Amino acid sequence: KLAVINFGGQYVRLIARKIRELGVYCEIVDPENAYDLCSSQRVKGIILSGGPDSVQEEGAPVLDQSFFDLGKPVLGICYGMQLMAEILPGGRIEDGSLSEYGRAEVKIIDTDVLFEDIFERGEVFTAWMSHGDSVVKEPEDFEILAETASVPIVAMADRQKNLYGVQFHPEVTHTERGSDILANFIFDICGLEENWQISDIVQDRVEQIKSVLDDDANVLIGLSGGVDSSVAAALIQEAVGDRLTGIFIDHGLLRQGEAEQVKKSFSQVFEFPIKFIDASQRFLGQLEGVSDPEEKRNIIGREFIKVFEQEAEDLENVTHLAQGTIYSDVIESGLDQNAALIKSHHNVGGLPERMELNLLEPLREFFKDEVRRIGEELGLPEDVVWRQPFPGPGLAIRVIGEVTREKLALLRKADYIFREELQNSGISDKVWQSFAVLPDMKSVGVMGDTRTYGYPIILRAVDSEEAMTADWVKIPHELLDKIAGRIVNEMEQINRVVYDVSSKPPATIEWE
Ligand code: XMP
Repeated sequence: KLAVINFGGQYVRLIARKIRELGVYCEIVDPENAYDLCSSQRVKGIILSGGPDSVQEEGAPVLDQSFFDLGKPVLGICYGMQLMAEILPGGRIEDGSLSEYGRAEVKIIDTDVLFEDIFERGEVFTAWMSHGDSVVKEPEDFEILAETASVPIVAMADRQKNLYGVQFHPEVTHTERGSDILANFIFDICGLEENWQISDIVQDRVEQIKSVLDDDANVLIGLSGGVDSSVAAALIQEAVGDRLTGIFIDHGLLRQGEAEQVKKSFSQVFEFPIKFIDASQRFLGQLEGVSDPEEKRNIIGREFIKVFEQEAEDLENVTHLAQGTIYSDVIESGLDQNAALIKSHHNVGGLPERMELNLLEPLREFFKDEVRRIGEELGLPEDVVWRQPFPGPGLAIRVIGEVTREKLALLRKADYIFREELQNSGISDKVWQSFAVLPDMKSVGVMGDTRTYGYPIILRAVDSEEAMTADWVKIPHELLDKIAGRIVNEMEQINRVVYDVSSKPPATIEWE
């Protein structure tokens, strides 16, 4: 296996993901615990991640020099490469003056093994950079493999010891042939083999779940009807069989017909018992008068947990509450190292500080598209695996401002019309996620010769892979026209329809 040492860079999980895609098992480890893991026989190679710190700063994470005497191949990326230059004799780095952000044209000086069969000597390729400091002198026995116009050392190698460093990020999609560069390191330099399949991931997770649970412990799982919690449930079912109980909470913030549809689908998919609870009074009551998005999210997260804890009391020996938390929930909630809070996903940042149940989140480090592949591997039906994402806080974050029953009813109807028309037009399958939003404002219109003052409806449809970035879908104008026509004709209170043409970033997918 491969070890990835986490220096806190935003792309650490992307490195892990790329390695998984190449069919190799990897483990992410903090610098403090790295030596123990990396000295194990099973670790055949080591990647040092990027990080936000400056190597020379006091308190910046470091490694002991003896680490490089383990005799294992090492690839330092960005901060990782700078750290090599700082630790190994002869290397020198300089801060600030040679920074590069975003696209850079990298020229190959020597292909070595790292760039072999990918680029030719002298070839220029596009790579993604994000660094303030730079290596200005390579350590002893190192050779320079690549440069840019402004930075003389953007890749270096000590081929005797199999130590490599790259200043750019091979793990991001914008770096040309980045995966191939990682593949050269993993297969040709570390000698690892492609033997880690999605079925291994499933097996590994199942074993992990078994290992954290006592033999007689029962698990409660919060099911939303969505892909993530369904896949988590299927995994846990595989591990604990019928020691699992599902809870589906109708918080009064679901879409039209959703509760019934989920009920029907679950009865065909799962064998463990599922309790359906109507808690809409409770949630809507708590949300009364609240208009701040983060406050709404926190209230919903808290109420979910309260209901789960109540339900757990009725069952015997429930030690764990399982959730379908995935990686984008974690990073946006600001809970991964150094990540900033964007919004508190209800199942992560919205949790109360003290909880009676332990959390079990087997999908926490996976991206949405990987979760779907795991779901397919577990044999979940297509309509579950390919269901559009729907946020846990439901329509509460699509009714902008205070949530009332009246506004929810308006939003539900418009959302239903939108979904129905997308379905009928056949483009529904091509859309990653689509929904309507009801803003907290009114505008003037005219209907039948009289002035109106009504709500607009915002329509949003996006394409994405893993929810980290997204682009708006170019829905044909004729179809938009038809949908808008139906909404204003069938809904008296709506006098305007707006289509959202923002990408993520700078927007997010949801409006709150
Ligand atoms: P944003 O709005 O952050 O959304 O671009 C990314 C994806 O996550 C969904 N989302 C949530 N899912 N709990 C969830 O389970 C939440 O609190 C939450 N907030 C957003 C959103 O629908 C999109 O697919």
